Amino acid sequence: LPSRIPFSQPKFAFQERRVSTQLPPEVAQVQDAITSALARVNERFDRQLRSEFLPVQRLCRHVERYRGKMLRPMLVLASGLAAGKGGGVASDGCAVRGDYTSLITPDHITVAAVCEMIHMATLVHDDVLDEADTRRRGETINRLHGNETAVILGDYLIAAAYHLCSQLDSQKIALMLGQASMTLCTGELLQLSHREDLSLDEPTYFEIVERKTASLVALACHLGAACSGTEEATCQRFESFGLKIGVAFQIQDDLLDLTSRQATLGKPVGKDLEKGKLTLPMIHYLSSASPIDRGRALTLLEEACNDSASAQPARAQLLATMEQSGSLRHAQAVAAALVNEAKGQLAFVPDSAPRALMLAMADAVITRSF
Ligand code: FPP
Ligand code: MG
Repeated sequence: LPSRIPFSQPKFAFQERRVSTQLPPEVAQVQDAITSALARVNERFDRQLRSEFLPVQRLCRHVERYRGKMLRPMLVLASGLAAGKGGGVASDGCAVRGDYTSLITPDHITVAAVCEMIHMATLVHDDVLDEADTRRRGETINRLHGNETAVILGDYLIAAAYHLCSQLDSQKIALMLGQASMTLCTGELLQLSHREDLSLDEPTYFEIVERKTASLVALACHLGAACSGTEEATCQRFESFGLKIGVAFQIQDDLLDLTSRQATLGKPVGKDLEKGKLTLPMIHYLSSASPIDRGRALTLLEEACNDSASAQPARAQLLATMEQSGSLRHAQAVAAALVNEAKGQLAFVPDSAPRALMLAMADAVITRSF
């Protein structure tokens, strides 16, 4: 059995780069169940977006290409298995480990598809806001078809997500998915209100990140556990795991936006500064530098926050400054600490292959390079 497996099966030839991680050998026991469940999630996703109209079909086919890591669906499934009977011993004392496929319910599949659909809607809209032309190595919808089409396609995805949600028996789950979507939008609105705000502080940055990214990751973990009939207090621990890895994920995303290259990342780099979004390394530098260094950085930031010819050298200089001052390392350390705290949330969960998978996924969130 391979010691490195991709998070999901490659679907398109151009998606050759996948998040992979060193997986403990016992994870192989759950690999087949997760892979076949992800195929069911994909099928549910595609069926939900089906339309009789060719232009809609074409756009939805393009959105399929946005689907890369399938982090949220995988977390729904892995949480469901780690929290439920697959994570230990059934209440009647029978060991049920190993029979993972039978433990994945239709609700797990639906919730996983809904989470991915909400996520896709946010990406389509986010690329409009960021004026991004590339995602996952392909052209964005806004680049190919313009902002109007991208906005309405995002709306179609979000409408489809709630239509799918309404097919769940549990009104509580639908309510929570609606609430998380609202939280996510408030994160984005908060971020917009702080564009080019050079005094943005760490608490506000974390508030934005928890909302725009971590809220949905947290809910994926909570609902995965809940769909296995897990008690509320345990679901909360899974949610806390998701919230912490969600924040770590966005910190890593922000670091890669500063330090990576488009060829590696599959999407444009330097967008955060171009759009006047301060992220953790920059916020840390500005709050810890001497008044003179801070003044220099603010002048560079003014230049970096636009798309003029001097923006690129200004960004390169800021990056070197954050590297030398230890602000990049600070952000990496914060993300690593969050991953450790997240893993600590699962300390009470019986050792099992799904739990090992979740721990490996937590590590992959910050070791990924794209
Ligand atoms: C990625 O951030 C963006 C998000 C995690 C959330 C975006 C949310 C919206 C645009 C609100 C729309 C919401 C709904 C429900 C339709 P990023 O730009 O830092 O990441 P990137 O580098 O992947 O673009
Ligand atoms: Mg973006």
